[in-house]
Amino acid sequence: MTEHLKMDEVQPRLLDETGQGAITRPMDRPEGPLKVSGRATYAAEYKAANMAFGVMVRAGITKGGYSIDESSVKDMDGFLGVWTDHMIRNSAQGMMDTNPVQLGQRVQYLGQPIAVVAAETFEQARHIANRLKVDYSPEDGDVDPETASQVDQSVALDQGDLEQAMKDAEFTVDSTYTTKPHNSAPMEPHASLAEWDGEKLTLHGSYQMLKYNKNELADSLDMDADDIRILAPYVGGGFGSKLGIAAEAVGAAVAAKALKRPVRVVMSRQNVFEMVVRRTETRQRVRLAADKDGRLTGLGHDNRQSNLPDEGFSEPVTLATHFLYGGENRRYEQEVARVHRMAAGSVRAPGEAVGMLALENAMDELAETVGIDPIDLRVRNIPEIHPESGKQYSSRSLAQCLKEGAASFGWDQRKGPKERREGEWYVGMGVAAAARTNILMESKARVTLNPDGTALVETDMTDIGTGTYAILGQIAAEMLGLDPSKVTVDLGDTDLPAGSGSGGSWGAASAGSSVFLGAKAIRAKLAERLGCEPSALRLQDGMATGGNNRRPLAELMEGPIAEEGHIEPGDMSDEMQQAGYGAHFAEVAVNSVTGEVRVRRTLSAMAAGRILNEKTAASQVHGGMIWGIGTALHEAIEHDPRTGHVVNNDLAEYHVPVHLDVPQLDVMFIEERDDHANPMQVKGIGELGLAGAGAAVTNAIYNACGVRVRDYPATPDRIFPHL
Ligand code: MOS
Repeated sequence: MTEHLKMDEVQPRLLDETGQGAITRPMDRPEGPLKVSGRATYAAEYKAANMAFGVMVRAGITKGGYSIDESSVKDMDGFLGVWTDHMIRNSAQGMMDTNPVQLGQRVQYLGQPIAVVAAETFEQARHIANRLKVDYSPEDGDVDPETASQVDQSVALDQGDLEQAMKDAEFTVDSTYTTKPHNSAPMEPHASLAEWDGEKLTLHGSYQMLKYNKNELADSLDMDADDIRILAPYVGGGFGSKLGIAAEAVGAAVAAKALKRPVRVVMSRQNVFEMVVRRTETRQRVRLAADKDGRLTGLGHDNRQSNLPDEGFSEPVTLATHFLYGGENRRYEQEVARVHRMAAGSVRAPGEAVGMLALENAMDELAETVGIDPIDLRVRNIPEIHPESGKQYSSRSLAQCLKEGAASFGWDQRKGPKERREGEWYVGMGVAAAARTNILMESKARVTLNPDGTALVETDMTDIGTGTYAILGQIAAEMLGLDPSKVTVDLGDTDLPAGSGSGGSWGAASAGSSVFLGAKAIRAKLAERLGCEPSALRLQDGMATGGNNRRPLAELMEGPIAEEGHIEPGDMSDEMQQAGYGAHFAEVAVNSVTGEVRVRRTLSAMAAGRILNEKTAASQVHGGMIWGIGTALHEAIEHDPRTGHVVNNDLAEYHVPVHLDVPQLDVMFIEERDDHANPMQVKGIGELGLAGAGAAVTNAIYNACGVRVRDYPATPDRIFPHL
């Protein structure tokens, strides 16, 4: 039986009644010991009998035709083959309804995967890939977004008259901000082991969205998706780079088929930097018009970004701008410059991660201009209804996050620029709002309750480091009245019911809802056997109580009860504006001699509906803030201005925050339920933790030393000359 729910109506708050105490509490990850002891097997660690090794070959020119000269390597030790067909259909965007990268037999950027070679050993394959002769017919192509000849322009919104509002305003801000391209840099590089059994393909991979990845692979290989099984039980981070399949999956499958033996292809760190997706650089102009009290009357947010010619994806820079603050006159323009740099795609919090840097920096500038506290300014500008669509908001605890966060952080100790000095350090505080649209995706899961008081959860949902194993087990345990240690969770196998996949911060709420529904169907059966209404059933610690009966679970069961849960988004997704909110606070010290910035402490006050696990949710916010620190201070892909090549293509030269860059990070949750979100009243939190986070850091830099950084990242050279 399947318990199916299309989210067309508000659902009762069943999880407030269950009383097992399995959810919300900060439970450790059940798979944690496996991970820290190296016993959790990741894609690159699988072996198969008679396995061959593949290595990707990258394009050495920016644009043009190419042909592979197989004779240049075919006598080398261990050579098994080189394949160039199909490499072209490397779908970088995955399930997004945009075009995948379909490059044809042409190079569109330096570093593009153009072939895979296979050999008996990895070292031989790498040597062959380096020695392979490729004949190119190079052509000129734009690589600089600022001077590109092809630019697609669009006006995303034009409401009222922004120009007039700017003229009539008491106070205005008109500032331009730039952000650099970013790499998702997951700890685990992309890797695939492909094995064929006749027409059937099994792929051990590292992907976020298996039910879609299966279709993408089928599409690339021109085969039936039902003949593909993808396994990804553990994924060492994705951050968008594993939403869709990458070239190594196709390369492994093509080579394995031709060789009639298993082939494993593991991307090098350089491959990940060059071949997957980057976040676009942006140039953003934010215009704010405000009355004498600082209330917004106009808001403009324009951006210029880049992507390959014909790529469908664009960074949704104004995602949060649409609904976060009021102001009746609004205009957003977008320009996508067509350049021959690696494809731009989804990288953690696509849109908000860079869009809110600019918006929240501009709000800080407005607070300064108007002369009011940045928290007051934000609270004052929280709109009654969506300023564009006119919709109501579902749960929205933004004001509480700002106020309670401020109280907890000690915001009342904040002084003005250069007013707090400790030795050669200026110290200051900054705040930024966080907002991220909440999404529900279709998801299925099977829940089995056994007479011995154990349970099993099965879905092809992934755990990309987020805590899926923990929370899905907790939800089943809560609903079935079991200790979470009694629940086993099996994930990451396309033979299991199709889950939501991990992306867009929808995983916990969507996959979780399908587990909730499967368990709810089991509860209905148990209630019937106990002779009570489902609403009267109480399951706790293996005992069932209902009506006037109280019996051990086992007595109600003749054998296992297995039910499938199936959640689908419905009218509730559109009825109201649904988003998670928060407030990030940062205290930084800026060195008056060198311009160096040290983040001293941070606090993120978050409201994301019901919290399923206070530990894994806090970990998501920690990760978001670390991304925020990286975005604000460190991270930048540097493209060679001549060729577009990613110059800093490793973790030595692409700087992410390290331990010494990351101080005490505090997280607090504001109690909330979102009745429109799903039957668990849960909202996504992962990317919310990054939305706005970097702006809290740069706003703190301004408060410390009076230097307004508008070009990210805020490296010392951008601060020191202005001190
Ligand atoms: Mo996320 S960028 O949707 O993995």
